[in-house]
Amino acid sequence: MDIKPTLKELAAIADVSIATASRAISHPEKVKFSTRRKIERAIEEFSLKNKKTGSGIIGLIVPDLTNQFFPMMLTGIEMVARSNSYTILISNSGADEKNEEDNAKKLIDMGVDGIIIIPSGETRSRYIQQIVKDNVTPIVFLDRNPDLDEINLVTTDNYSGMYQAAKYLMTLGHSKILYLDGTEGTSTAKDRLRGFYDAIGENGDTGRIVADFSFNKARSEIGKLLQSAHFPYTAVLSANDNMALAAMEILRDNGFRVPEDISVLGYDDIPNARYAGLTTIKQPFVEMGMNAMYIMLANINNPLSSKKNIVLPSNIIFRSSCAVARTMRI
Ligand code: RIB
Repeated sequence: MDIKPTLKELAAIADVSIATASRAISHPEKVKFSTRRKIERAIEEFSLKNKKTGSGIIGLIVPDLTNQFFPMMLTGIEMVARSNSYTILISNSGADEKNEEDNAKKLIDMGVDGIIIIPSGETRSRYIQQIVKDNVTPIVFLDRNPDLDEINLVTTDNYSGMYQAAKYLMTLGHSKILYLDGTEGTSTAKDRLRGFYDAIGENGDTGRIVADFSFNKARSEIGKLLQSAHFPYTAVLSANDNMALAAMEILRDNGFRVPEDISVLGYDDIPNARYAGLTTIKQPFVEMGMNAMYIMLANINNPLSSKKNIVLPSNIIFRSSCAVARTMRI
């Protein structure tokens, strides 16, 4: 875990301009191979001369520690970190972009060796955009795409996952589907919504509630809908398990049977989903975390590493919360 050279130090050792050194790190594909090798040798030479241990700490910025999904990803990150003598320092952004930026600044001031960021939205923070561009502190984005160029990113195929979920409900005869949407501005919410609408096409008589991936908001909004007496739906399809579990609770509190009267389908496969018998789309959260940490290690050991964009598949887990639409039963 070496101390990283500044661009100026690298340029001096490699005997190139600072601009060339910066381009070689940010856009290695845009410089000659011989120049790239000069910079790589300069990094190796600097590391040998300045053999000091880095902090041995990786920062992790999480939007919501109360959501089981994120700590489940942390297990994958920590498995790889621990076996490479790194410790993870967690900071909670509370799904707020300003907090996310403040956390990133604090972690960098503390001298962490890299930061894994689960974005709270489309990262519009100029500070985070700059540290990504400078490429001095390795940054890896996880789960949500911050919509920036030239980044390390590990996500799942959210579009296909939700498309598959909607098609499954349609095979059970459901067309009147209430969709519970996640935090607007997150790539995961956007891609899943697109998959839902593309699967349903023109045939659906659908409704949509934006509940920010939150149990309480979903419970409250569905409760209001039930009070309105306009509830024609035979299925609830949710962009995450927390909101799906809220739907199961509030529907049962209002006399509906799940799945006899209304089917409920979630997304994530957090531990609570299993206990509730929730049919859901399983995200490979441990593998997501492991992949993010492997990319982090590669970038720490060689700042010239090319940026990686990994998209992992999801799959449906069948449990007891879905059944044939009651309107289809003879
Ligand atoms: O449950 C929280 C959701 O936000 C998960 O589906 C995860 O993908 C994140 O984007």
